[in-house]
This record gives sequence, structure tokens and C-alpha cells, in this order.
Amino acid sequence: MVTLLAAHHTTGVAVSWTLHLLGLHPAAADRVADELDRVAGDRAAPDFAGLRRLTYLELVLKESMRLYPPGPYGARETTEPLVLGGYEVPAGTTVFYPFWALHMNPAYWPEPQAFRPERFTPEEAAGRPRFAYVPFGLGPRGCEGAGLAMVEAELILAVLLKRFRFRPAPGHEVTPVERFVLWAADDIRMIVEPRDPLRGT
Ligand code: HEM
Repeated sequence: MVTLLAAHHTTGVAVSWTLHLLGLHPAAADRVADELDRVAGDRAAPDFAGLRRLTYLELVLKESMRLYPPGPYGARETTEPLVLGGYEVPAGTTVFYPFWALHMNPAYWPEPQAFRPERFTPEEAAGRPRFAYVPFGLGPRGCEGAGLAMVEAELILAVLLKRFRFRPAPGHEVTPVERFVLWAADDIRMIVEPRDPLRGT
């Protein structure tokens, strides 16, 4: 269950939210498609070295996990009493901390609701505190699979976006809800079309 929920459910929703955002932002989707054509050429998927050259796709995935962190909060149990923001917290208390709220902090993310992958370019990321962005949590109990998750999510997105174009289903409202992972109340429905209609692929 841990592997299914912690590893695959999270990676799956990261892919889904990214497709949703690209559906809403066709200029970004075009840029991803151009990058994939350039890096993967005629192949259905990039190889491992190619994946590392999908720099714009990586920015998009990071911005997607900022706006919709698949694991929206973390939890720890205090081993000794502490004072946190003026509150006395006894030992043995479970403290939940909201990753999503950090990702929406306008001090580090101007216009936090806006989808702007460029926030993650080295130039824009320079000087931003490390803990302003924690999709994989933090510290010794942070996500063990973060590196694998990024490779998996980028590979799945690369395969899908090389062949298909995703558009939001008209009239379908996407409302985020927390259900252990961050998902949508009535799912995310999209229209999928081949990028090359003549070949149907
Ligand atoms: C996009 C995909 C993923 C996201 C967003 C994600 C996110 C997270 C988060 C937020 C935590 C809690 C960290 C904390 O409390 O500080 C966590 C823990 C964990 N994740 Fe992931 N994860 C992902 C994929 C994976 C994968 C692929 C694996 C394994 C192959 C994995 C294995 C684990 C394990 C074992 C823990 C518990 C670590 C512990 O308690 O010591 N995760 N993950």
C-alpha cells in the first residue's frame, strides 16, 4: 500500500495536474511539444540523456507541483515540548504542516495562483529559500523517491505529449480536493487528440 500510495498515486496525479495546466496554457504546451520534437526526434520517447535536455518540461512539472502539490501536507510528532509561532506544543503532539500554503506564499511566489514555469529557471530560483518549495517534504523523513518520481513523471509526460494534445473538456469544472493526495472533486476530464492527425498518432 505504501508503494502504491506514496509512489504511484502521487506520481500519477502529478502527471494529471501537469496535463491539466498544459491544456489551459496552449502556448506552454506548444513549447513542450517543440522541445520534445527537438530532443526525441522520430522516437516515441527520449532516452535517459534526452530526458535531461527537456529543460522546459522540467520547469512545467515543477510549477505544476507548486500549484498542485500531490502530497499537500506533511506531519510530524513532537518528541519534546516546543514553542512554535507563540504556541506551546506539548511532547507527543501531531503537527501538520501545509506544503500547499508555503507554495502560495506571495513573498516568494508573486501572483501565486498564476502558472509561470519560468519561476524555476536558475536565475529566478536564485536567492529563494530552499523551504519555500517542498513538494517532496523535507528533512530525514522527506520523500525517498523524489529522484525516481521526477524521472518517471517526465518520461510519462514526454511519451504522452509527443503523441497527443490534451484540452480541458468544455463545461467540466476542476476543483482541487485533498484526499490523501491532492485530487479533483469530480476528476479531471480532458479531450485527447493526436498531434499528427494524418498519422493518427
Ligand atoms: C511526484 C511524486 C511524489 C511526490 C509528490 C511525493 C511526495 C512525498 C511527500 C510530500 C512525502 C512526505 C515527506 C515529509 O513528510 O517530509 C513523501 C514521503 C515518502 N515518499 Fe514520496 N512522493 C512521490 C513519489 C514517490 C516515489 C516514486 C516513491 C518510491 C519509489 C516515494 C516514496 C516515499 C516514501 C517511502 C515516503 C515516506 C518517507 C518516510 O516517512 O521516511 N514517493 N513523498
